[in-house]
Amino acid sequence: MKDKLKQITEEALAKIKASKSLDEINDIRVEFLGKKGRITSIMKELKDIAPEDRPAFGQLVNEAKQKAEQAIEDTKSRLQSAALEAKLASEKIDVTLPAKKKKTGHGHPNQVALDEVERIFVGMGYDVVEGPEVEYQEYNFTKLNIPEGHPARDEQDTFYITDEILLRSQTSPVQAHVMEQGKLPIRMIAPGRVFRSDSIDATHSPSFHQIEGLVVDKHITMTDLKGTLTQFAEQLFGEGTKTRFRPHHFQFTEPSAEVDVSCFKCGGKGCRFCKGEGWIEILGCGMVHPHVLEMCGIDPNEYTGFAFGVGLERIAILKYEIDDMRLLYENDARFLKQF
Ligand code: DAH
Repeated sequence: MKDKLKQITEEALAKIKASKSLDEINDIRVEFLGKKGRITSIMKELKDIAPEDRPAFGQLVNEAKQKAEQAIEDTKSRLQSAALEAKLASEKIDVTLPAKKKKTGHGHPNQVALDEVERIFVGMGYDVVEGPEVEYQEYNFTKLNIPEGHPARDEQDTFYITDEILLRSQTSPVQAHVMEQGKLPIRMIAPGRVFRSDSIDATHSPSFHQIEGLVVDKHITMTDLKGTLTQFAEQLFGEGTKTRFRPHHFQFTEPSAEVDVSCFKCGGKGCRFCKGEGWIEILGCGMVHPHVLEMCGIDPNEYTGFAFGVGLERIAILKYEIDDMRLLYENDARFLKQF
């Protein structure tokens, strides 16, 4: 009987050792240690043994059981850690692979040009403010000295929401909003979108952008205006850029001027870029009309000011030598990412 036990035990241990999966081990456990398992069943044969030998034999069976259990546990943990290692190996990340490059966005040429203009004026102590795109006709026109029925309204025909409310045709109404707040002195620029009922072509769009500028303080003169805009032109288009002030007319400034810069392509000699002129027009400006100051609650005997308005697209087109404004609105990444 002892021999039989020994033989079964050895067989069990050998099988356990040789097993290659947890399933297989479970089957072996059932075969040998289950209720009807081969080691368990040996106990039933105790009756064939002399009573005095029974305790010792029982002990042997228990030892055999324990051995088998232990072997099963050992093999199980060996199999489990082997499985884990295989899993880790299969999931290993090869950190030596070159990373995929992320494509990041790119500032729109308008935005790049605006950032530059803001940098220049903030450097001179200006605030950057914003006004509404949907505006009262009163601010877009009346408070800028363009009363109802005045022909200057026709030049800036825009989109009307009601008789009183429209999409602003210029950023100049922001001047009136800021002046009305009554915080003096004023030194601000106001960039933003404007609207005109124009058809689209290479130089026109029903929606484009302007940057308004306004300074109001005691003793502000035309000299301040010229100095400021000359400094602006040099910073934007490069050192040595000259400015030329041509008399012009705007309703809300007196006197008014249009400003040209010397062509930064040919230095003023005349080329295809400046159409042989040597000069390129960049903005409109002037001394704030006393009546405008008055309408906005500022005493023109005490305060004076200057204002200017720049087309943002115009700046971007000049700076980046873009020959058709429509390219700025088409959102073709192949075009936009060049700047
Ligand atoms: N608002 C004018 C326009 O759209 C541009 C302009 C001219 C603005 C002279 C000004 C200025 O502030 O002083 O044509």
